[in-house]
Amino acid sequence: MKRVITTAAVLSLAASFSLAGNIVEAVKVDSLDGFKCGNKLVKNIKWQDVVVYPQKTIQLNDKKANEINKNAKAKVVNVGALTDGKNVAIIVRWPDKTKDVFDCYCSDKYPDGFAVQFASSADNPEKLPYIGMGSDGRPVAIYIRKAYGKVFEPNGFGDVAHQVNPHNTNYFGKELKKFEEEAEKRGVGTYQKAFVSEGFRSMTEIKDNSVNYRTDMHYVDKRGLWGGTVIRPVKDDYAAPSKGEYAVSVAVWDGKELQRDGLKRLSGWIAVKMPGADNKELEKVVTEQVEGDVKKGKELAMTNCASCHRWSGAEMAPKYMAPGLYNIGGQATAAYIKESILDPSAVVVPGYNRNAHPNFSWYTVDDKGNRISTMPPFDYLKPEEIKDIVAYMQTLKAEVEK
Ligand code: HEC
Repeated sequence: MKRVITTAAVLSLAASFSLAGNIVEAVKVDSLDGFKCGNKLVKNIKWQDVVVYPQKTIQLNDKKANEINKNAKAKVVNVGALTDGKNVAIIVRWPDKTKDVFDCYCSDKYPDGFAVQFASSADNPEKLPYIGMGSDGRPVAIYIRKAYGKVFEPNGFGDVAHQVNPHNTNYFGKELKKFEEEAEKRGVGTYQKAFVSEGFRSMTEIKDNSVNYRTDMHYVDKRGLWGGTVIRPVKDDYAAPSKGEYAVSVAVWDGKELQRDGLKRLSGWIAVKMPGADNKELEKVVTEQVEGDVKKGKELAMTNCASCHRWSGAEMAPKYMAPGLYNIGGQATAAYIKESILDPSAVVVPGYNRNAHPNFSWYTVDDKGNRISTMPPFDYLKPEEIKDIVAYMQTLKAEVEK
């Protein structure tokens, strides 16, 4: 009997998260002033399980990191939201057995971290920005927080590129001590940044105080969990809700797995509902599972797509031909996959690292400056066939870590 109950409990857990999908309800609280992870307001949060998938669109130029992440699994994280009417807080809780903090200048040490991305607008849910980092004409606001210990930043602007390792100075004895004291005084323990982005080439840090936000990151040793919070105004120049809802996605970096930059785990779009919101179109887009013949879709994908793209079970194409589709089903909406097939130039994924393969680009630029995808439109396929391919693509995602 006991065994039956256990199985039933496991099943109902699995079902509750796959049915609810990526929809988070922001709970109204009196005030978010001073709110942090671990604060008593946390108990108001309605947590939603969200799966973050390894980003395998493009590989880093780092053999060791790529090897560690080769078979990386997806992780379940919890996402919640609170609002006091003025500000909105997105809270992420994710499992990570090791706490990796950047506190030295060792060459292959990377910190844990997380990011929350807001689509600037979700007015047209079928055309949400490229999930990686926004895309031309479809901007996003990204808030990044990394686990940083005290490090010396001589210019005081939190500019990581200018950090100086005291041991790389020519100071000795008293002078070194003085330098270290100064470093301690001016050391900035927080790495938090906000960006606006319409794709990799335009990822611009907002440094002019026009963005108002704060972040917090907190490790719970006993549970092997990170908690992270991003608080920003409900509405500003960078993002605002559409019919009361935002399209948000979350990413986490695991320093232990040498993750940084694009090498991270990323969710698909999540609808965050403010109190009283009603944006059924957005909720439909972020949860849509296309009904199609997955087996036929696979055959069609093998003949039409596998010459350029790679995914589990289809690794014939050279790595540089096109973005990896290993986790496309976990990160992209059905609407996005369909658009990619019918109109590849609508969103152009930034090209493969030209240093790695200088002669191959994923797009060309026409005389008006528009980027034209090297992927041909598959608009001659029958609507049924497109559906089958999309249904198959939605099955492409890494297994979830238990
Ligand atoms: C001639 C090579 C080629 C073929 C064939 C091809 N693609 Fe692509 N595909 C690309 C390139 C290059 C990109 C990146 C530029 C862009 O975004 O259009 C891309 C982008 C994509 C994206 C967006 C990926 C992302 O990470 O956002 C999807 C989805 C996609 N293709 C699906 C397909 C499907 C499904 C097929 C088969 C029906 C297919 N592709 C056939 C070259 C190809």
